[in-house]
Amino acid sequence: MLFRLAHFSDPHLGPMPLGDVFRDFALKRLVGAGSWHFRRRGQHDAAIADTLRKDILAQAPDHVACTGDLINIASYREFPRALNWLNGFGDGDFVSLCPGNHDAYVKIDAARGLDLFSAYMTGGRDGAFPYLRLKRNVAIIGLNSALPRGIGKASGVLGDRQLNTLATMLEDMGARGFCRVVLIHHPPLAGLAPPRKALQDATALTDVLKSKGVELVLHGHNHEAMHNEFAVMKGTAHVFGVPSASMRRGQKHGAAAWNLYAISRSKGAWQIEVQTRELAHGGGFAEIANKSFSCGAGATA
Ligand SMILES: [Fe+2]
Repeated sequence: MLFRLAHFSDPHLGPMPLGDVFRDFALKRLVGAGSWHFRRRGQHDAAIADTLRKDILAQAPDHVACTGDLINIASYREFPRALNWLNGFGDGDFVSLCPGNHDAYVKIDAARGLDLFSAYMTGGRDGAFPYLRLKRNVAIIGLNSALPRGIGKASGVLGDRQLNTLATMLEDMGARGFCRVVLIHHPPLAGLAPPRKALQDATALTDVLKSKGVELVLHGHNHEAMHNEFAVMKGTAHVFGVPSASMRRGQKHGAAAWNLYAISRSKGAWQIEVQTRELAHGGGFAEIANKSFSCGAGATA
């Protein structure tokens, strides 16, 4: 069995017309719009995200994971535009999404906001998080760490209810022999993001992941390629973050890139081959790295 999972994050789809800012006025949106126009607009290019989507589809993965920040200031006009873009990948069976802090930038009417993405976030639990989706022998668990914060803050929280449900799901899926893949926008381990941007209950999440076991944790938020690993009760868990899907070359952060995880089982352990494809000089995407990792001989059988 080989399961090929594509992972991208943080496309921050633009443009952001001024009407988006003033139509549903909120001070945080105004600050966010300033940040977009004076800084982020020069970093992100929606055309790059389009090319990345084309590259992912050309590699014909079995499934696609997006770890959030589709949009910028959570204005009502951004959501349908982003949904339209997401639909370009395929339907909800093909794509799993977890929200980012920019998708929950301010408190809004969910029916006109995040609920529009529900086909990409459900798993038979009526849109509640975490959701669980079974794809062959891979269990995809989507967490929601995004919630509106004060101006200048981009931190996240899971809360006890999500953590408790996650623990049950991981235990159950491990016992049933699934490869467990967790999606979360914020980096899941303490110290991977500065306090203003960090997951506040990262330590509690790490405790759950270590005690119940997990094979792969995918995140975004930092706009950089990251790989961390930690020991779980049986074996090793791998944690990957990817750059923004729309980042131009030559910026402070790494150019747009995405990962393709080829998940297989060998000698009683999960093996993960990770291919990284990055925006190249010519404007297309090309492979820049290919590495293999084992989740350890002790991984759940
Ligand atoms: Fe983010």
